Amino acid sequence: MTAPDLPAELKAALDARLQGLSRTDAARRAALISQTYRDGGGSGAIRSEADALAYALARMPATYAAVTASLNALCQIAPGFAPNSLLDVGAGPGTASWAAAEAFSSLQGFTLLDANAALRALALDLGHRSTRLRGIKYRHGEARAALADAEPADLVVASYMIGEISDGARTALADLMWAKTRGTLLIVEPGTPAGYGRIIALRERLIADGAHVAAPCPHDGKCPLQAPDWCHFTQRLPRSRAHKQLKSAELPYEDEKFSYVALTRTPVAQHPARVLAQPVVTKVEVTAKLCTPSGLAIAKVPRRAKEPYARARRWGWGDAVMEPG
Ligand SMILES: C[S@@+](CC[C@H](N)C(=O)[O-])C[C@H]1O[C@@H](n2cnc3c(N)ncnc32)[C@H](O)[C@@H]1O
Repeated sequence: MTAPDLPAELKAALDARLQGLSRTDAARRAALISQTYRDGGGSGAIRSEADALAYALARMPATYAAVTASLNALCQIAPGFAPNSLLDVGAGPGTASWAAAEAFSSLQGFTLLDANAALRALALDLGHRSTRLRGIKYRHGEARAALADAEPADLVVASYMIGEISDGARTALADLMWAKTRGTLLIVEPGTPAGYGRIIALRERLIADGAHVAAPCPHDGKCPLQAPDWCHFTQRLPRSRAHKQLKSAELPYEDEKFSYVALTRTPVAQHPARVLAQPVVTKVEVTAKLCTPSGLAIAKVPRRAKEPYARARRWGWGDAVMEPG
């Protein structure tokens, strides 16, 4: 399991860029960028080196933690997956590439694509300070055009990206990403009903095209959740002092909500159930909402069933678990 906090090399690279930076100015820029996202705008508000750095300081820890949690889930279900090459689509400051480098020591070739020149410049600068990411290739351009002539990769990732493009363009992009996927395609989105909606539409389309779900779903069938419910997870991550200052936050941690799907070319061997909310533990029983190969289930594990109860007490939201017999 990879830890959710930024790797030491990335922290050091960001710290180096922080030298001489006005925290007030960075906080103002980060607030403006967040407001643009909340208003439905995309990364177009990130125009300069200072904007890119403010964005990275504010958002990279949380998106890194969400991608890492998704990759951890994938590795648990497909322990033999050892990708050699990565395509990071809408890579921004390179967050998903850093997370994938930590998760897979097998990765050697990193290709990143993005239309934003300021984020690309930052990613290259951060990457040059890393032993693993020094040799990344970073193509500047619109994702579909850049993908069209990119080499296929074992692992393709689009992290917090597909929400920035129109529905029609997203479908075409999904087809293209799948066409470039030799092993696994991972899509990560904010854990909102809208983010989940985008994931579920893409999941359905690519399953019809021959994809299999490795995680989070233990099946390739229709999602059993009904609105207003939606499938999402949460990852807790530590907040650095600079991050707290930037966000005027008091708590030493934040909880990032995210939705994801990992689609594979070949079906995975195991289909454990997925815990869909934090289980409720009492002295009498553990109650957990599970997605199982045969649909939604509310598992109740009584205390008198000693070993299953002891196991279920340790279940967390997002875990893959064996259903109690
Ligand atoms: C919210 S950022 C996420 C960046 C990064 N993947 C991460 O997880 O930190 C979205 C990224 O998608 C890129 N993007 C959005 N639409 C794009 C498009 N049509 N072509 C290329 N890049 C695009 C933006 O430039 C931006 O860098």
